[in-house]
Amino acid sequence: MERTLIIVKPDAVQRGLTGEIIKRFEARGLKIIGMKLLQVNRELAEKHYAVHRERPFFAGLVEYIISAPVVVLALEGTDAIAAARATIGATKPAEAAPGSIRGDYGLEIGRNLVHGSDSVENGVIEVANFFTEADLCGWSRDVDRWVFE
Ligand code: RTP
Ligand code: MG
Repeated sequence: MERTLIIVKPDAVQRGLTGEIIKRFEARGLKIIGMKLLQVNRELAEKHYAVHRERPFFAGLVEYIISAPVVVLALEGTDAIAAARATIGATKPAEAAPGSIRGDYGLEIGRNLVHGSDSVENGVIEVANFFTEADLCGWSRDVDRWVFE
């Protein structure tokens, strides 16, 4: 089972798309093991996007992610990383496939609605950046046997 950190970014929360976005991951079969609403502080934002620290868009990216509340989710499932990123769509919403979240709701890269971890290792690190183990709920879902083989 892989874990991925999903962030429903400030633009998506402000636009009232939180439920729509969570619904897509849930319907896909990914299991929610952690979820909360928070306003990310600068320190956490810089840590989360540390890999992009030297990029020209870093300052704007941090301002965007701390600008208003986000909803963060820890999701678990088979191939959760790849499955969630496919559900999210390409980084540039204009190039994202219709049917993906960014392809259905976004236009610009700096307002691309959702974050999803990009590797198994980063999924573990990012979930730990936002949730303590006590925050997470390792529950047994009754439909699991109909989702996981
Ligand atoms: P994310 O990390 O947010 O899930 O997005 P991603 O993997 O699809 O894209 P990534 O390359 O990790 O970039 C992180 C976020 O930085 C912003 N960005 N802006 N102006 C630009 O050229 C540019 N490039 C990236 C986007 O908000 C992207 O989601
Ligand atoms: Mg990324």
